[in-house]
Amino acid sequence: MKGIILAGGTGTRLLPLTAVLTKQLLPVYDRPMIFYPLNTLVKAGIKDILIIVAPEYSGSFLNLLGSMLRPYGINISFIVQKEPRGLAEAFILGEDFIDGENVTMILGDNIFEDDFTEAIQSFEKGGRVFAREVTDPERFGVVEFNKESGKVISLEEKPAEPKSNYAIPGLYIYDPRVCDIAKNLKPSARGELEIVDLHKAFLDLGELDVRVLNGAFFDAGTHDALLEASNYVQKNGFKDRFHPDIESALHAYNKEFKRLVTLKSL
Ligand code: DAU
Repeated sequence: MKGIILAGGTGTRLLPLTAVLTKQLLPVYDRPMIFYPLNTLVKAGIKDILIIVAPEYSGSFLNLLGSMLRPYGINISFIVQKEPRGLAEAFILGEDFIDGENVTMILGDNIFEDDFTEAIQSFEKGGRVFAREVTDPERFGVVEFNKESGKVISLEEKPAEPKSNYAIPGLYIYDPRVCDIAKNLKPSARGELEIVDLHKAFLDLGELDVRVLNGAFFDAGTHDALLEASNYVQKNGFKDRFHPDIESALHAYNKEFKRLVTLKSL
């Protein structure tokens, strides 16, 4: 299983914060936001991870994460997305990296408390996405279920009048056919290659599995959600549940950073 973290985009909903720093490097309590999705993948046993970034911030991501996890056998690669052409473009840009294997993509601003190890390790074929009850479904991709059979009836991206309260959070597992499916997508009315169209393609094949999540979930793409995520992390000991490899990599990074600062000031 390969892993992708999608960490480009413009972050306009977080201006002026994102005028000076990309969204995924903004702090969530004591660490840059990207460590949360990175932790979700590492905890699930994924060791080969591609981070897709916007051109302006490629240097910052490389400095932070370029070699930090190598001593732990976690390999991080980078690809620049020149323009934010939509979430599904990740599977076109990432085709060589995916190289015919199954892939889990997580959005760089999505923070999950759930552990995805079983869902990722047991995945064989098709598409697997998740549903999480929220109070503001119009901010998300939304899935509607048949109440009796539990089967998916509809999938919509940010509907003005959502048919259910089930958001589709930003963690998606697909088999490698996703690359060809993405290449054949047409941009939506807002000019993006939409992730929901990938789910629909697997639904049409009869191969979409949707699992309900119950743990805390934040799309930290608005000022309120960013603050809520930080508060939640602080109050619930979330940071103590990071994978030990990430914790020790961060510790080593901080130590080396301090050593270099001391050297410079001598
Ligand atoms: O948070 C979950 C939601 O994420 C899903 O329910 C929606 O179906 C999905 O479209 C997405 O909606 P958002 O409005 O939150 O997407 P956003 O534009 O914030 O992009 C999500 C992440 O992907 C963010 O870290 C920026 C990055 N991105 C976005 C685009 C459009 C890219 O790297 N490249 C892009 O082209």
